[in-house]
Amino acid sequence: MINDPYRPQFHFTPQQQWMNDPNGLVYFQGEYHLFYQYHPYGITWGPMHWGHAISKDLINWDHAPIALAPDEHGQIFSGSAVVDEKDTSGFFGGGAGIVAIFTHHSQDPESGAVRECQSLAYSSDSGRTWTKYSGNPVLADSRFPDFRDPKVFWHKMTQQWVMILAAGQTVRLYTSPNLREWAFASEFGEGEGAHIGVWECPDLFELPVDGDPAYTKWVMLVSIGNDPAYPEGSRTQYFIGQFDGTVFKNEAAPEHIQWLDAGRDNYAGVTWSGIPDEDGRRIYMGWMSNWKYAQVTPTVGWRSAMTLPRTLALKSHNHVLRLVQQPVQELNALQTNTFQWDSIQVNPGTNPLSMLALTCFKLEAVFELGTAEEFGFKVRASEAGETLIGYRPGTKELFIDRSCSGDTGFHVDFPGRHTVQVEAEDGRLYIQIWVDHSSVEVFAGEGEAVLTDLVFPQETQQGMGIYALEGSVQLVSLQVSPLQRVVS
Ligand code: FRU
Repeated sequence: MINDPYRPQFHFTPQQQWMNDPNGLVYFQGEYHLFYQYHPYGITWGPMHWGHAISKDLINWDHAPIALAPDEHGQIFSGSAVVDEKDTSGFFGGGAGIVAIFTHHSQDPESGAVRECQSLAYSSDSGRTWTKYSGNPVLADSRFPDFRDPKVFWHKMTQQWVMILAAGQTVRLYTSPNLREWAFASEFGEGEGAHIGVWECPDLFELPVDGDPAYTKWVMLVSIGNDPAYPEGSRTQYFIGQFDGTVFKNEAAPEHIQWLDAGRDNYAGVTWSGIPDEDGRRIYMGWMSNWKYAQVTPTVGWRSAMTLPRTLALKSHNHVLRLVQQPVQELNALQTNTFQWDSIQVNPGTNPLSMLALTCFKLEAVFELGTAEEFGFKVRASEAGETLIGYRPGTKELFIDRSCSGDTGFHVDFPGRHTVQVEAEDGRLYIQIWVDHSSVEVFAGEGEAVLTDLVFPQETQQGMGIYALEGSVQLVSLQVSPLQRVVS
């Protein structure tokens, strides 16, 4: 196994070579499946396959053989997978099986014209082997060169399959009784949200508001590709509204833009299908990179990891709905022991954490705002550099600053400071930080403010610090938990 100093210890990575988007996230008979965009012959993007891994707990993953390889219709681009419980497709002789719905992508060698269409593959042995459907493709439309990333789900109310896919700078919705024949239902996106690049990897799902199953809203995720003019690179926006099985209606003002993550490295994320009702969670995972520099990050023999698996929920706050994210609770099993502090006054120049040296850990802190103009943590710190996670009460800005985090020189847009607004509640701010060998994920408040950033520190950057500038701040409680390695 490749084990350079940047190799994540508790995030999913391919054993070797290049990975991008998560694909075909599906839970079936006690197993979580994670497929992913994979180039088995290099550490940059290339002819796309679906790599595959299987887990019982979303944390420990067994690598499985490549599930789908390019064929006469082209490369295998992103898509989804569903459990066809009642064999609506007719692929499973009346039983249940898994159907993958993905984009076939090809380019005419002479004209250079791109063709993207949607195809199926199915598995009768819990995802171990796959057969491509002989009737592929099942959905084509030559008007759209960008026509990809189908996400399919069963719509209970209308008893049909729904597909959402990206077509240029809108999404299109289709319905089907059997996954093989698709009828156009509606289009969404013109004049709505952000349009700074091509739309990709949509998802659409229903969530209870404040956990009340009788009061629900629909959430649409739409990733936006890397437009060179756009300093943030690739990002994911979301819309909250209503969906009746045919049409999605955004309930926010059309020009209102909501980002899923204010960091730079959470793209093309989608959610698991097939999660049993008794569990009821909406579990999300994103690709922890950015098309701006994804192909030049300083790893050796492998490239890219996924974000932590996270639950998504809708919470109302002062009559406004917000999408909140939390790492899945299965991750708690990685904690070995916990260092705990209560009631520490942090002043400029003091560092109560100076005796700790850690590279993989979770940190949870409750601050009571004081006079400090800025306060926060330094992680993966040494003379060589550090990553700052800080808060400025004056502007209500939470940030990750990775300007001096380690190796930042591989791309001019990599170093920088990324911010998100978050309100303290009754004068208190809750922050949770997950640090791995090459990433920092920050969740603040109830999870309404999230920052996910790659960092490439030297192995010797193991120090930690709490800091306050121009005044003091009260740390009500702090827990630091070293995390075990899981990557096989
Ligand atoms: C998003 C994306 C998808 C496409 C895939 C190709 O990162 O561009 O739209 O299906 O990657 O690898």
